Amino acid sequence: MARTMPRLARRGREKPSFELGDIQGNVLRGYTYPHAAYLFLRIDDPAKARTLMGRMLPQVASAQEWTDGPPATAMHVALTYAGLVALGLSPELLASFPEAFREGMAARADRLGDRGPSAPANWEPGLGTGEAHVLVTVYALDGEKLELARMALKGVGAEGAVTVVHEQRAEALDGGQDHFGFFDGIAQPAIDGGGVAGRPGDGQPAGRGRWRDVAPGEFLLGHVDEDGGLPEAPAAPFDRNGTFMVYRKLAMDVAAFRRCIAEHGERYPGGPEALAAKIVGRWPDGTPVSLSPDAPDPDVVEDPLRINDFTYGDDPAGLKCPLGAHIRRANPRDSEGFFGGKLSDRHRIVRRGRPYGPRLPEGAMEDDSVERGLVFVCFQADIWRQFETIQALWIDDGDPFGLGADKDFLIGEPSGNGAGKMTIPGDPPFIVRPQPRFVTMRGGEYLFRPSISALRRLAEGGV
Ligand code: HEM
Repeated sequence: MARTMPRLARRGREKPSFELGDIQGNVLRGYTYPHAAYLFLRIDDPAKARTLMGRMLPQVASAQEWTDGPPATAMHVALTYAGLVALGLSPELLASFPEAFREGMAARADRLGDRGPSAPANWEPGLGTGEAHVLVTVYALDGEKLELARMALKGVGAEGAVTVVHEQRAEALDGGQDHFGFFDGIAQPAIDGGGVAGRPGDGQPAGRGRWRDVAPGEFLLGHVDEDGGLPEAPAAPFDRNGTFMVYRKLAMDVAAFRRCIAEHGERYPGGPEALAAKIVGRWPDGTPVSLSPDAPDPDVVEDPLRINDFTYGDDPAGLKCPLGAHIRRANPRDSEGFFGGKLSDRHRIVRRGRPYGPRLPEGAMEDDSVERGLVFVCFQADIWRQFETIQALWIDDGDPFGLGADKDFLIGEPSGNGAGKMTIPGDPPFIVRPQPRFVTMRGGEYLFRPSISALRRLAEGGV
């Protein structure tokens, strides 16, 4: 089926300055592959698993430029801490990995806000139990190619090396929106030397309307970070060109979102679409409410110099973009209390998620019992400082924004006592309460994505 692509402003390209052949793809620059499969494997026989890794190695896609466009499929490999243990790494090497990664996502669920229906006890089989050792991600141009690659991978299980313990398919929705109807994947950090020219707004605020690229060590180990040194890293050979990966399967209750917007939007002076835009921080077409608070603006969306070029310093009360809007909480830029961006620059993430499940038919206000949502994936050098700070301190807690216990209204886990609300500043302010449940966590893992040379060392038994 032919896909319509959004007319969103895209980034330009520039010459990258890294050992691209050693870095796994989809970190420095994102993929446009619409299809993805995530296969979590348990290692049953470490020696056979290493041999299998060696056989798979030639298929692992690096960050090198494609000369003739993207190949039909691209494959990537990441490991959980339990996976590194299962492979028999030395205790010294294992101990050199950071605590958040060693503990794993399930052990840190409470601080992340994964409570109630989102708690690990309710996660899907194979996630958060210690059984998931290796994640193989396959991206494909079409569903058929994905299926062939997936079946080939599943076939290797018969050799006794590994067993598939969890599997997830994901597919970009026609038109490029998420299930709530908003364009996603617009704002990404501009990585200094990464090969993608940053647009204004992609980097960090540098004063007087200027922006600077983010240091590569925020996303890739062994490179200079925003502190001017190398990020903390595990011991060699995992200290260079690898990155930490966060995987979260987030179910989205689209009918609940539509009902909330319809019900409260009737009273909201701007109407339902404006209410939804204030909750997200962008209009469904991607226009930032900071740049165009009253209506979407197609000229902004199509202009790479404007689509992400905004700050919050001139809007301390949140009259344009509410303090509690999802994008303002997830990247406060130069918001008040963030010292012109100095307190947000160590907390950036590269997001590489994909929606899963079919759309809820347009206009439907009741759930159809079909699973849909977002496979949220992000990359960073430090899981605690980057992903967990955003998730635990900004999404699951309103304090840094003067919002008390209010969680991110779009994606936060509602507090059990029905006290959560969304405040849209104005005269008078508009309050949406209580916070319904729109997003439920279905399971996740913390992973390490080694460099290609480190994967080779693993396959050869060198570590
Ligand atoms: C189902 C769950 C989620 C939905 C529906 C969602 C939706 C969105 C949308 C529509 C945008 C605006 C488009 C863009 O700027 O790219 C956005 C931006 C963003 N989201 Fe989410 N998101 C989800 C989960 C998360 C999670 C779990 C995190 C991190 C813990 C996160 C972090 C971000 C960040 C950092 C931005 C960019 C903000 C900026 O730089 O201006 N999101 N999200």
